[in-house]
Amino acid sequence: MKLNIGVLPGDGIGPEVTAQAVKVLKAIAMEFNHVFTFEKALVGGVAIEKTGTALPDETVEICKRADAVLFGAIGNTKYDEDPDAEVRPEQGLLGLRKALGLHTNIRPVIAYEDLLNKSSLKVKAIKDTNLVIYRELTGGIYFGKRHLSDDGNTASDVCEYQRFEIERIAHAAFKAAQSRKRKLTLVDKANVLESSRLWRRVVKDIAKQYSDVKIEYTYIDNAAMDLIINPKQFDVILTENMFGDILSEEASVIVGSIGLLASASIGDEHVMFEPIHGAYTKAANKGIANPIASILSAAMLLDHFGLDEEANRVREGVDKSLKLHITTPDLNNKYDHISTTKVGDFIEDFIHNPDETNLN
Ligand code: IPM
Repeated sequence: MKLNIGVLPGDGIGPEVTAQAVKVLKAIAMEFNHVFTFEKALVGGVAIEKTGTALPDETVEICKRADAVLFGAIGNTKYDEDPDAEVRPEQGLLGLRKALGLHTNIRPVIAYEDLLNKSSLKVKAIKDTNLVIYRELTGGIYFGKRHLSDDGNTASDVCEYQRFEIERIAHAAFKAAQSRKRKLTLVDKANVLESSRLWRRVVKDIAKQYSDVKIEYTYIDNAAMDLIINPKQFDVILTENMFGDILSEEASVIVGSIGLLASASIGDEHVMFEPIHGAYTKAANKGIANPIASILSAAMLLDHFGLDEEANRVREGVDKSLKLHITTPDLNNKYDHISTTKVGDFIEDFIHNPDETNLN
């Protein structure tokens, strides 16, 4: 298969972890006779420094002509500390999601047997967790009208949803549930928010077409608690943009490190794959960033194109690295010298020699 992949490393640890994912994809191409080409582009803080904008037009063009985009991370504390900054790295990511129409964000959360004791939660509560969050990505409060009064004392952000925006992700989430444990939980705040009541109405309607899927409705505050007390009760979680952002970050506590969670952002014409973690600027260039989330995002890219054997090879490499404790310091007390690049090298070697790869 020929794939042209847009690569947007971004800020902080983004370039280091993305380099490992690209390395893994190159190994897959070589081993399985595919032709993957990579086209790099600027986004986020680095783009602001070089071009004055977080999302240069050229980047959007590269992404639009690519078959898929691999995204690193964006953000810089310099902007976080300045509420008056007019250009911000995050505009790059949000602008890209909108420009590419990436409405459905898929975030799997799987507790690895070998990492159960890395979580601060009880092993018996998290063991066998296997859920996926379907987060709506191009609507809601992230993209609603913003306002700041002239005197600077009043501000608002509107959370707006239209029926079609809910319908398209709901169908995707129900279909996912059908191929999993046949359970879907809609997370909202329908006891307070009108937009949540629309979600509930629309999802109730759509549920009639998926009678084999058990549906539950829960409020975000309750879901936030249930997710760490008893994550096994969930299969597919369907939710709006901001609730999905918060819940998926919370879910990283279950797996032991946010450096493990990957995601796919799917639109009608474009697709993008990215770790859910941010730029983690203070860890940049130290070789300590965990590349697994980025590598697993590359596996989701392979899944998307039906390259199942290839995606499985990547996941087996990740499993083996975790089993052998070939992991970065966020997960490893024993061999804390194992760098970002070494983890990538190990998985690359595994792809070429799945039966022989060991720590050397
Ligand atoms: C994520 C991130 C982004 C979001 C930020 C960087 C804008 O937290 O992908 O989850 O809030 O969507």
